[in-house]
Amino acid sequence: PAITFIHPDGKSDRVETSGGESAMQAATRLGLDGILAECGGNAMCATCHVYVDESWVARLPAVADDEDALLDGTAAERLPNSRLSCQIHITPELDGLVLRLPERQV
Ligand code: FES
Repeated sequence: PAITFIHPDGKSDRVETSGGESAMQAATRLGLDGILAECGGNAMCATCHVYVDESWVARLPAVADDEDALLDGTAAERLPNSRLSCQIHITPELDGLVLRLPERQV
């Protein structure tokens, strides 16, 4: 499945993901500087914050409690479509997913 990251300046990067990868892992593999992921994907840092494109919000699994708590501490404003990209596991159903990168992660 391929997912697309849209940068704050409007540029976008499409990434082909491999089985079981999280959106954060795909972004870091591509070297996107919009995702820091300081904790390495353990839902502890909130520096992998993304805004899920509105058309996809309802198609993602619900926010878990630990993710919800961390989202309250994101550097960029938390919005209703905010998620931690390390908690988005890419499945075939998510082919075409669009994630917007916030202005900052720290
Ligand atoms: Fe740290 Fe996602 S990488 S919370």
